Amino acid sequence: MIDRCTLRLTVLLCLTSSALSRNYGVLRFQQRSSNSACQKLLRQLIRTPQYCLDDRMDFQIPEEVKQPQQVQKEEAMVVMHEMLQQIFSIFRRSFSSTGWNETIVENLLEELHWQMDRLETALEEIMQEGKFPSENRTLLRLKTYYLGIVRYLKAKSYSRCAWTIVQVEILRNFTFLNGLIDGLQH
Ligand SMILES: *[C@@H]1O[C@H](CO)[C@@H](O)[C@H](O)[C@H]1NC(C)=O
Ligand SMILES: *[C@@H]1O[C@H](CO)[C@@H](O)[C@H](O)[C@H]1NC(C)=O
Ligand SMILES: *[C@@H]1O[C@H](CO)[C@@H](O)[C@H](O)[C@H]1NC(C)=O
Repeated sequence: MIDRCTLRLTVLLCLTSSALSRNYGVLRFQQRSSNSACQKLLRQLIRTPQYCLDDRMDFQIPEEVKQPQQVQKEEAMVVMHEMLQQIFSIFRRSFSSTGWNETIVENLLEELHWQMDRLETALEEIMQEGKFPSENRTLLRLKTYYLGIVRYLKAKSYSRCAWTIVQVEILRNFTFLNGLIDGLQH
């Protein structure tokens, strides 16, 4: 716990003491390495998806978030933040039935939190410059997509297989997130 707080504090200090956040090269690097960490952690959690074929589900991703390359940088950051937040809240849900290793889940949540922190700092600056993207239905559709995932978990009473299906889905979402990160040029 102390370790985590210290690390967190260090990250915050780094961000506030130098304008790291607007250096998109650094941001890209940090988000990318944190994303790989998340993927690695998720792979450790996922077990025997082949037994869960009957539980497969098409969660229907909104069309406009399918092609990350076409998105504006600011827009991409908002979308990334929303996805991370949704993934974070999904993994905070009851998973007692899964027998997951809690250390791995905690580490995953911590990585997600860091990514959100960094994006928030960068987005705050963008907001101050008045460059914040205007209202966009994409976010609403994203929320609907993740709501679909949550409803699926509930309908399946958070069963092991349902969680496995969701983990596999979210693991693929990290690949999508990497595409968005690549688009953060400047
Ligand atoms: C949980 O995962 C951590 C990190 O991989 C490992 O050190 C620990 O032994 C695991 N705990 C259990 C109960 O499997
Ligand atoms: C909303 O964002 C998407 C990309 O995420 C973009 O293709 C679309 O043009 C935007 N729509 C508006 C109304 O800004
Ligand atoms: C999540 O992963 C699925 C499976 O590849 C994909 O169809 C979907 O587009 C992803 N969703 C997001 C928001 O990236």
